[in-house]
Amino acid sequence: MKEKLQQIKVSVEDLLKNASDLETLEDLRIKYLGKKGELTSVLKGMGQLSAEERPVIGALANEIRDFLNNEIDMKKTELLAELQNKQLKEEVIDVTMPGKTPDIGSLHPFTKTLNEFKEIFIGLGFEVAEGPEVETDYYNFEALNIPKNHPARDTQDTFYIEDNIVLRTQTSPMQVRVMENKKPPIRIIAPGIVYRSDASDATHSPVFHQIEGLVVDKGITMADLKGTLESCMKSLYGEDCKVRFRPHHFPFTEPSAELDVACFVCGGEGCRICKGEGWIEVLGCGMVHPKVLANCGIDPEVYSGFAFGIGLERMVMRKYGIDDIRLFYENDLKFLKQF
Ligand code: DAH
Repeated sequence: MKEKLQQIKVSVEDLLKNASDLETLEDLRIKYLGKKGELTSVLKGMGQLSAEERPVIGALANEIRDFLNNEIDMKKTELLAELQNKQLKEEVIDVTMPGKTPDIGSLHPFTKTLNEFKEIFIGLGFEVAEGPEVETDYYNFEALNIPKNHPARDTQDTFYIEDNIVLRTQTSPMQVRVMENKKPPIRIIAPGIVYRSDASDATHSPVFHQIEGLVVDKGITMADLKGTLESCMKSLYGEDCKVRFRPHHFPFTEPSAELDVACFVCGGEGCRICKGEGWIEVLGCGMVHPKVLANCGIDPEVYSGFAFGIGLERMVMRKYGIDDIRLFYENDLKFLKQF
């Protein structure tokens, strides 16, 4: 039995020398020292030994088991160190190599200008409202005092989904939706996408953006309209920006006006950006028509209000001196990165 134990010791020592990976090492441990291993099966035969021999063999077996366990542990440590060294060599990082700069996106000029707008109006106590782009004829036209066959419809030719369902041609239907759902005082802006069946060219796009504004309360006058819009333009273009109101016609406001700002490139002398006029048309506005108030269940004898509608594209184009509206929609990074 002694010899058998010595034999195991020698074989393990031998095999250990050649074990070159952790798996082989583990197999070796199980084969010789595991529960069903060779050393254990030798120990199981101890019952046949004489009383004198038993403690001697027992001590030897323990000694050899401890010795081999220790050897295997040492080999394991060695193999782990080797593995780590190999990894360190293979995965070396050259910190002097130039890095890869990630492409960081930026806000579209529309988003930037719209954000500025929102900030100005939220500062004045307005809320931001949003509504559907697929609208009924009623909200887009009729409730806004544009009956069927009214000539004002000609300027807003649109895409029809069904006879009475259109892609909205303006954000003005939001005036009606808000007034139907909220009692005065009302102060909202409603930015969004609108559609017209215009052929696309340098200044027209069948899809574009507007920002609607609406204020309704007791005692609202044209002075409130002028003060609010003038203050908005000054926040956008600077304190010394000049504005003028020009009479105009919109079916849903009475009286109506268009607001021009003195060209911020030439200051009024006339240049390429303002097409020689010195003034740039920025928005349509007016006092909410009593019929529109009544259509929404608001008594025009008690309440009055003003509204305005701004074309976002036009503002951004003029702000940055961009002369082709199509550039906005092409997603060309060379163009977009300039803002
Ligand atoms: N909705 C008009 C358009 O698209 C713009 C407009 C004009 C909106 C006057 C208004 C307004 O709210 O009062 O041409």
